[in-house]
Amino acid sequence: MRITVPGQDPEVDLEKIDLFDPGLYADGDPHPIWKVMRERAPVHHQVLPDGRAFWSVTRYEDACRVLDDHEYFTSERGTLLLALDVGDPAGGKMMAATDPPRHAAMRDPLARALSPKGLAARQQQLRAAVHGMLAPALTQDRWDLATAAAEFPMAFTGAIMGIPERDWPRLTRCTTMAVAPDDTEFMEGDAATTLMSVHHELFGYFADEIRERAGDPPDDLIGFLMTMNAGGEQLDVQELVYNCYSLLLGANVTTPHVLTAMMLALIEDPDSLRRMAETPSLLSSGVEEGLRWSSPANHFMRYAVRDVTLSGQHIPAGSAVAVWLGSANRDEAVFDDPYRFDIARSGNRHLAFGYGNHYCVGASLARITLRMIVREMLDLFESIELDGPVEHLRSNFVAGIKHMPIRTRLRPGAERMLVERQAPAGA
Ligand code: HEM
Repeated sequence: MRITVPGQDPEVDLEKIDLFDPGLYADGDPHPIWKVMRERAPVHHQVLPDGRAFWSVTRYEDACRVLDDHEYFTSERGTLLLALDVGDPAGGKMMAATDPPRHAAMRDPLARALSPKGLAARQQQLRAAVHGMLAPALTQDRWDLATAAAEFPMAFTGAIMGIPERDWPRLTRCTTMAVAPDDTEFMEGDAATTLMSVHHELFGYFADEIRERAGDPPDDLIGFLMTMNAGGEQLDVQELVYNCYSLLLGANVTTPHVLTAMMLALIEDPDSLRRMAETPSLLSSGVEEGLRWSSPANHFMRYAVRDVTLSGQHIPAGSAVAVWLGSANRDEAVFDDPYRFDIARSGNRHLAFGYGNHYCVGASLARITLRMIVREMLDLFESIELDGPVEHLRSNFVAGIKHMPIRTRLRPGAERMLVERQAPAGA
């Protein structure tokens, strides 16, 4: 999805808006549309040619209300437009598709395992993943940042989950197929077949992984899920499969797109790139701005369980309501100069990780790894330039870049620095 700065008063025909169309995010630009929607139609109704319909929420305050208010909006009937009105077999079984109080019973132990404290022992593993991703840049100066970044989450989340390395490439592809079944690069059959078969493959994969661990669950994240106490009981096999799937998907299809969008913004703004490289204290605010800027989870959906009014618009019970996070993260009512990529932005209350009960459980892991990798890139390369056209993913769920050729030049002594940083602490 292109990240552009809409003009003062963009021309948009509200009657013709199609936020469902994955092509809008591959070839088009939703930002002028969202800007007009926030001003004139903040709660907008769209009917698809097949008769299915959904409401779109584009303002920040409405987004927070829908994402967090489970008394009015349930997650149990599906949270993605990809599955609009088809129901969700994972409802009540997968944490992301479960309402409180059962949701908290699943989430609390996992949130502890994925907290900064829980992840402290994994630092070396994370650093190895970062170095693995950057290794090709030591021997070649022209490479595709998006392809390298796409493979990278398997090396940290996959490793933490205990998934064998031989399976990483296929699982990386599968997770993209699951969120972008309309993208011809990832399609296997037509879009519907792609989605169905990839779900079948991933659920089967995790069922096998769980079966292999039965009896003596190892010290990895899948083993942890198998033994954790979720409200006085252990998760059953179906719950385990869905939650493994959700963890892998959550990590694979989001984190890489923050890195690429952020690097693109920095390449386009050499002054910010230089300031980030020279000022380590900007790393944290820079990554937060990268999260706001990219908003890779483009939307999340809920269903209204009772009649409700949002921004003056009545929404009947049973309606699907999509929250457009990329729009909420440009809301002029909350963010000063929202179309400016500001690496020093303070009080950045972005919604890239969602809001409320379902706030991303992997947020700490994502932040730690993003900070690590951005820092390493800035330290390793004295120049980073675009080296070809940027290609965007065809998906209404994930706003991301699938190809981004770059040309990098190493700083003197970069190889030595990488080797030294790879050595275990105290070595
Ligand atoms: C930059 C990276 C990431 C972004 C932008 C992101 C975005 C989000 C968002 C917006 C939600 C809220 C969903 C909702 O309200 O329905 C969410 C939830 C979730 N994310 Fe992430 N995520 C990221 C990284 C990760 C990672 C690394 C993991 C796995 C380790 C992960 C696993 C999950 C899970 C399991 C949930 C469901 C949480 C719940 O229902 O309580 N995510 N994520």
